[in-house]
Amino acid sequence: MFKFKISSDIRFRNFGFIPSGYFLRDLYGWLFGHRNLIKRLQARDIINAIDPRQNEKILDIGCGQGHFTVEIAKKSQTTIGVDIAEGIDLIKIPETISDQMKFVQVKGVSLPFKDDTFDKVLASAVLGTIENTEEFLSEWRRVLKPEGKLVIVNTSGRPPIAMAYKNQPWFFKFLRKVYIKKFPHNYADFERVLNNNFGNTKSKFPQPNELKYILAQNGFGETKVEQSLSSATGNFIAWHQFIGFLRKGFIPSVPGWPHYYYFFRVVEFFSKTPCDFCHIYISKHVQ
Ligand SMILES: C[S@@+](CC[C@H](N)C(=O)[O-])C[C@H]1O[C@@H](n2cnc3c(N)ncnc32)[C@H](O)[C@@H]1O
Repeated sequence: MFKFKISSDIRFRNFGFIPSGYFLRDLYGWLFGHRNLIKRLQARDIINAIDPRQNEKILDIGCGQGHFTVEIAKKSQTTIGVDIAEGIDLIKIPETISDQMKFVQVKGVSLPFKDDTFDKVLASAVLGTIENTEEFLSEWRRVLKPEGKLVIVNTSGRPPIAMAYKNQPWFFKFLRKVYIKKFPHNYADFERVLNNNFGNTKSKFPQPNELKYILAQNGFGETKVEQSLSSATGNFIAWHQFIGFLRKGFIPSVPGWPHYYYFFRVVEFFSKTPCDFCHIYISKHVQ
């Protein structure tokens, strides 16, 4: 039986592909990579920010299904993915990188690692799901080596929708008339719906300046903030979710669309202006 193997290089075509042994599922993964379209589109930016090296130990906090962990492991000495979710340690580790990585289930804020263990820490889409940001930052700082790098990936919400509440364009007024009952009263209401939908503990998305301030207060030096995803993709996702909510009463998620990857890649290529939507924070642990 033909088996799909993962490459030892990071390939953005099928980023995050972890073979399961099931032919059709693996064919799909091998062609389109991890299921979440946004992660797939952001993968290149996130990996560039982490910039894994052969002599480095890297920690992927709240690693979910381990798609970033696996890719980072290919280019590092060791990468450990930790998550509170049960079954994390059951994710199949591909043979080609089996001695470069592992998954560990952790409970909450206390990490089972000595001080100054890691060269780099990645926390992608984790801050929204945890209660006490500062407590976690101090634990991440503890396990990072001095001068080590912390990469946080976070969203600042849906800026195109916030803008529409402010500027009230004609189609927005039209939607309000058509969906009079379900229309969120203001942007903060829509933000709460989004957060509930994605299981976030916060009711509000932190903006880059707030997060930079919190990082500085918790022992991280100057933070560089990069935007990821173009304004075309950001607008599309924001409006798709907003109109989906008005029509169906819930937020349509984008994970099920990896096969649109190639289409959005072309969109990304032609739409160079970034959307103030997904941010990558790169901070240095200072002594
Ligand atoms: C939105 S997912 C992000 C997964 C992955 N990092 C990504 O970017 O696709 C958030 C993850 O954080 C994990 N998580 C939430 N609270 C946690 C905690 N206290 N400790 C470790 N992981 C946690 C969740 O189980 C979940 O897998």
